[in-house]
Amino acid sequence: MALRQIKHYQKDDVLRKKSKIVEKIDERTKILIDDMIETMYHADGVGLAAPQVGILKRVIVVDIGEGVHVLINPEITIEAGEATDYEGCLSVPGVKGQVTRPAEITVEGLNRDGKKIRMKASGLLARAICHEIDHLEGILFVDKTIPEDIDN
Ligand code: CO
Repeated sequence: MALRQIKHYQKDDVLRKKSKIVEKIDERTKILIDDMIETMYHADGVGLAAPQVGILKRVIVVDIGEGVHVLINPEITIEAGEATDYEGCLSVPGVKGQVTRPAEITVEGLNRDGKKIRMKASGLLARAICHEIDHLEGILFVDKTIPEDIDN
């Protein structure tokens, strides 16, 4: 596994492009997934989408502290309620902002082995999945909020 460089939203327009469906989960895809997981943990993030490491493929990884979820070609099939909370993004360092997201979602996709998965998520997990899926459309959380500086 290897760390990948996380793209910065003001320096790389790859973050504004739409990612492509993964047609085949080959060795390259698996290496990408493993590298994304390592990169996310190294950066102390709760999620990462492939375009954040410069790859326009529909792959996200999320871990809010209860184990990693890998989702390939993720689709939100059910949304319920609304919740507003602060978010940040590894590609938008130093900034936080309140974003309204669905309170609960059902998401479908494939796991690292190409097996179909369907999972329900709420709270931070739902928020993180929605945030990462937005990345696959070239959408950043700062598009949906009034950005505030993170004071350190
Ligand atoms: Co992000």
